[in-house]
Amino acid sequence: MIRRCHDVSSVREALSTAPCPLALVPTMGALHEGHLALLRAAREKVGPGGTVAISIFVNPIQFDRPEDLLNYPKTLENDLAACEAEGVDLAFIPNADELYLPDRSILVTESLLTKHLCGATRPGHFDGVLTVVLKLFNILQPDCAIFGKKDFQQLALINRMVRDLDVPVEIIGHPTIREPDGLALSSRNRKLTPEHRADAPRIQRALSAARDLVQTGEQSPAVYLDAAKSHLLSDALADFSLDYLELVDSVSLQPIAKLTAPATLATACFYHPVRLIDHTEIVPIVS
Ligand code: PAF
Repeated sequence: MIRRCHDVSSVREALSTAPCPLALVPTMGALHEGHLALLRAAREKVGPGGTVAISIFVNPIQFDRPEDLLNYPKTLENDLAACEAEGVDLAFIPNADELYLPDRSILVTESLLTKHLCGATRPGHFDGVLTVVLKLFNILQPDCAIFGKKDFQQLALINRMVRDLDVPVEIIGHPTIREPDGLALSSRNRKLTPEHRADAPRIQRALSAARDLVQTGEQSPAVYLDAAKSHLLSDALADFSLDYLELVDSVSLQPIAKLTAPATLATACFYHPVRLIDHTEIVPIVS
């Protein structure tokens, strides 16, 4: 039976007697197969005798658009039933009033890896993500935490935070789970209209088509970006638009001048008002 905890003192008490090791899967709810894969990876990591915890919290301070927060899908009872079926031991479902006091004055801010991609187009978003993730780590003190690789910049930032602030937790990235037609699973997919949903695999197709140019030995970022852009925009629906499309070094997350090391082609697109992200890695051929 999954244990539900709604405040910090009750989750700390529950965990004080929970068997080690503890794996945490932080989520904002609206669980889909991608999250379930993270929960299964968590169980695999800690074994049948360890503890798997999930946090379900739609973190208000990471939303840069009020309508996005308002429209974010909320499906708590279904989420808890899915967790129960996956054998999750504990669900932490805090409320914002307890996590964010009115006079709070400290945020976790990163100053380099956030310069591009979502960091550039969603001001303050990653301050909100890093702050809540650090709080969750401090509250639950997990041995490891599992995040989807789909949120490539988020995962890089969490790894950087844990490294730079000496947070004693192992971060595990889990491969992106996709629909059979290639669309990356996301809680936001359920907000797409049927027409948008049918069109959305174009994102992954565009990135893959551009990535495949690596076979020709191509090293110019402009060639990859132009190829992806033309696939993304050809015959696009009227309410489809690009938020960004960038090719960045996979480690520094800065735009590259030439493809000489693994790089990541990443995009965020709007099927208005729904924003979807995806990326692919391009590894240069060594001759
Ligand atoms: O990826 C998410 O769902 C969120 O950004 C996270 C990591 C749970 C923080 O709110």
